[in-house]
Amino acid sequence: CGIIGCVGRDDTLDTLIHGLSKLEYRGYDSAGIALAGNGALHIRKRAGELDRLRESIDGEDGLSGTIGIGHTRWSTHGPPTDHNAHPHADCTGTVAVVHNGIIENYQALKDELEAAGHTFESDTDTEVVPHLVEAELAAGAAPGEAFRAAIDRLDGSFAISCVLDDSDSVFVARNDSPLVLGLGDDETYLASDVPAFRAFTDQVVYLADGEFAELRPDGWRVIDASGEPIEKSVETIQWDAEDTGKSGYDHFMLKEIHEQPRALRQCLRGRVSELDGDVTVPELGDIELERVHLVAAGTSYHAAVYGAQLLCDAGISAQAHYAHEYAISPPPIENATVVGVSQSGETADTLAATREARRLGAETLALTNTVGSTMARECDKAFYIRSGPEIGVAATKTFAGQQTALNLLAEAATPGAGDRDLVSALRDLPGNVQEILDESTAESVAEAYIDADSYFFIGRGLNFPVSLEGALKMKEISYEHAEGFAAGELKHGPLALVTANTPVFATVTGDGEYARKTIGNVKEVEARDAPVVAVTDGRSNVGRYADHVLDVPQTHPRVAAILANVQLQLVSYYTAAMLGRSIDKPRNLAKSVTVE
Ligand code: G6P
Repeated sequence: CGIIGCVGRDDTLDTLIHGLSKLEYRGYDSAGIALAGNGALHIRKRAGELDRLRESIDGEDGLSGTIGIGHTRWSTHGPPTDHNAHPHADCTGTVAVVHNGIIENYQALKDELEAAGHTFESDTDTEVVPHLVEAELAAGAAPGEAFRAAIDRLDGSFAISCVLDDSDSVFVARNDSPLVLGLGDDETYLASDVPAFRAFTDQVVYLADGEFAELRPDGWRVIDASGEPIEKSVETIQWDAEDTGKSGYDHFMLKEIHEQPRALRQCLRGRVSELDGDVTVPELGDIELERVHLVAAGTSYHAAVYGAQLLCDAGISAQAHYAHEYAISPPPIENATVVGVSQSGETADTLAATREARRLGAETLALTNTVGSTMARECDKAFYIRSGPEIGVAATKTFAGQQTALNLLAEAATPGAGDRDLVSALRDLPGNVQEILDESTAESVAEAYIDADSYFFIGRGLNFPVSLEGALKMKEISYEHAEGFAAGELKHGPLALVTANTPVFATVTGDGEYARKTIGNVKEVEARDAPVVAVTDGRSNVGRYADHVLDVPQTHPRVAAILANVQLQLVSYYTAAMLGRSIDKPRNLAKSVTVE
């Protein structure tokens, strides 16, 4: 799930391990490295955490080289074992390959190679690649040609990097899986994501699908499938290496929860006029939205549900869809703008949906945190939420960023009809989030219910997606059972689950009809002895029926739903921390799921 490579450093091994540690956030189950050059190729790999790899090579003599590649694997073919970990080698041990993605025709290629006498050691699809390169080399091809010819045989999605024992180049190919080059003074890097080498350089080149690259001690070049050079622009990364460190917090997730005021300020900067409160997002141009389909997965789907309501409120027909469903069976798409909501911009399900929308002729917009991501490049327009890198697998600041950006989108799409109160509430949003972070009692609420059987989250209107997200966060990082319900649905089934040991988190903001009716639902659960935690701005009297209250500052109803979520993030975090869970890297989950 993560690739690192470097050419031209004396401390290649340390650089690779450093890079892999910076890619851990993407989720992985095995790790490995290959060092090459001067006729030698050393491969070391281990299932499990990166520390297992570190321990296995600690103190080993002769493990050196100025060329290397490394990989963190998240299993798609074959279980996480030492054998299945990357890099994979050919029969002669002269070619090593790391790969992200899926090779769809690997079985046919494997059959063909086995018939020609190649033997395989792993269950992976990746292993066909070094054997294909080996076959091309044996047929007389030069290393670069052999690599491109092997890649030409593959169907599927991949970011692949390859080293040979007797070549001083790292060979790279990209199709449907992210890869970026980092340019140092005397060295060059390659990675799935910038944090892997950000400590060493801020100069980067993003590869596009179908492009190849060759990294050598004396330089680098990007070429097409026939070896013709492609001119690329060099971009400068605007954030620091420290931005990917924990800065004294116990976990990245807590750090990122606390980064929200800054992240939201960045999201709003230059987009809301200080003078007249107009919202202008230059990336969107004069966007006109008649009908909107928001496609997304996971937390981003909850932001999409929230966004669909905002757009409907602004008089624009809008619906949120699970991306994986939409990709296979999209609804009628005439006059629709399809908005891919994705923190990473690399989620395979969401890319499949935006690609299907493009194929059907719809205008597409990527709402993402990741500049240069596949989705940002493929869609007609890209709108960046500017949250900065998010390392914790569970999305926090990027969800708030998505909610905020969706408000800007709704405003930008309805010029003249804008809501001044909303704009002023958005301006106050970072300060209001800070107030919650400074004063929250979420830790004591988490402690009070640490032995709960299950956690339920209810809300109506914009607080419905917030309840879904509150439950998802709890599941992801605490491994406790949690569900989010539309409060009005409770009586139609879920109420049967409610007991004295199932705390119900009711998000109730404002004092309108949603609040009044949710309070009715709160009374229903209270009558069945369930403890109630009200997340509220105090405009209604829900606090009267609650065992605990988590306060949110009074503000515009749309913004209240962003604030309420911050309290729920903290409850999940402290619950998981008290249970001793692996908060930043929950079991079985990956930050960016690049397979469908
Ligand atoms: C994975 C992550 C989730 C995330 C989802 C969508 O499943 O574990 O936390 O919400 O992908 O990611 P995206 O990058 O598209 O927002």
